[in-house]
Amino acid sequence: MFLAQRRLCSLGSRTEFLKTIYSSKLLGFSTSAKMSLKFKNAKRIEGLDRNVWIEFTKLAADPSVVNLGQGLPDISPPSYVKEELSKVALIDSLNQYTRGFGHPPLVKALSCLYEKFYQKEINPNKEILVTVGAYGSLFNAIQGLIDEGDEVIITIPFYDCYEPMVRMAGATPVFIPLRSKPVDGKKWSSSDWTLDPQELESKFNSKTKAIILNTPHNPIGKVYTKEELQVIADLCIKYDTLCISDEVYEWLVYTGNKHLKIATFPGMWERTVTIGSAGKTFSVTGWKLGWTIGPNHLIKHLQTVQQNTVYTCATPLQEALAQALWIDIKRMDDPECYFNSLPKELEVKRDRMVRLLESVGLKPIVPDGGYFIIADVSLLDADLSDMKNDEPYDYKFVKWMTKNKKLSAIPVSAFCNSESKPQFEKFVRFCFIKKDSTLDAAEEIIKAWSKPKS
Ligand SMILES: Cc1ncc(COP(=O)(O)O)c(C=O)c1O
Repeated sequence: MFLAQRRLCSLGSRTEFLKTIYSSKLLGFSTSAKMSLKFKNAKRIEGLDRNVWIEFTKLAADPSVVNLGQGLPDISPPSYVKEELSKVALIDSLNQYTRGFGHPPLVKALSCLYEKFYQKEINPNKEILVTVGAYGSLFNAIQGLIDEGDEVIITIPFYDCYEPMVRMAGATPVFIPLRSKPVDGKKWSSSDWTLDPQELESKFNSKTKAIILNTPHNPIGKVYTKEELQVIADLCIKYDTLCISDEVYEWLVYTGNKHLKIATFPGMWERTVTIGSAGKTFSVTGWKLGWTIGPNHLIKHLQTVQQNTVYTCATPLQEALAQALWIDIKRMDDPECYFNSLPKELEVKRDRMVRLLESVGLKPIVPDGGYFIIADVSLLDADLSDMKNDEPYDYKFVKWMTKNKKLSAIPVSAFCNSESKPQFEKFVRFCFIKKDSTLDAAEEIIKAWSKPKS
């Protein structure tokens, strides 16, 4: 029995495990026994088993690889944020469960922070919900508000989990592409990518329950303007539609741009839930705390999902986040405030990445916000003939680049539905919230690669 257990432990995948227990008679089945139908996945997750982060983070785990893939800062988070966490661990009561919908000091700090932007009071207990990262916020919002048969409008490209989350809720995603105007001779900017208002209106109908907005946008880096948000707001009101606004990069906007909250547009507060992330706000992605802000008539449905799923989040992290937020709330106009200093630091890194990509003949899309830059990499010399042929170009390219050049990135077609993958498959996303030494290493690789063979 012990041997049998050891053998089971050493088995790799679940499928292999199942095959072995059936064929080896370990559990008393004959070799011809069929796998029970009861072991099959639930229909709601059918076809959703592939995930870009799982696939490409594994590849980039090799320490010799320079990782510009996942949105994972390798710069140090602010020291006061880390210090607050270390202090909290010593307080016994803060190591126990806290209020399920958000630790009281945290929802208070968040209401205080955001009241300035919404120009209205925000009830910390009724209009804010804290959960496990922005992922948790998206999940609560989509499960709590979207029904089977509903339609949800998603712009292409989109943060990859929007589509599977909508499908898991039994709803139908309706896609609309961001399209770029021609930019001959000049720099290509994320602001060149826009939604066509007529095309957008054609996606709305009586079944439309929500639109998912993402500004600043991942992966393009677009920061929606007042006029663009007004078009979306007008359609939401005309077609009585909700807006799920993913604003995790809200502080990361570069010179000449301003982040605006669609929830502050007339008639939008009552139909919008706005999502933020501690990971993106303080460069602590491992903390996995997110929040949703909106009217109580919407937030209460998200609370129902939360109380029946994760119930509550880690108390020490919530307390430390609250204390860190207070430090910056008190110095919002100060250049030292992290909300002001991080975008300044990142703008230099963005410009460096633009210069680097341009120096090897690429034409990157210069992002106005966020910490990613995308470029059509098909001009770079890469022999993909040995790569499996059943994948989009960018999947093959990034796998090849990670293995042969020791540089990782993320394929942009991962942010597309199946029909639109061909439109974006020549693009690759590089993350630039990285130490100078990491960017130096990336630069060395890219420059050596583009040198003509002597
Ligand atoms: C647009 C967008 N939304 C949501 C998330 C998830 O954020 P979190 O790590 O807080 O769950 C990310 C993470 O990269 C993101 O880029």
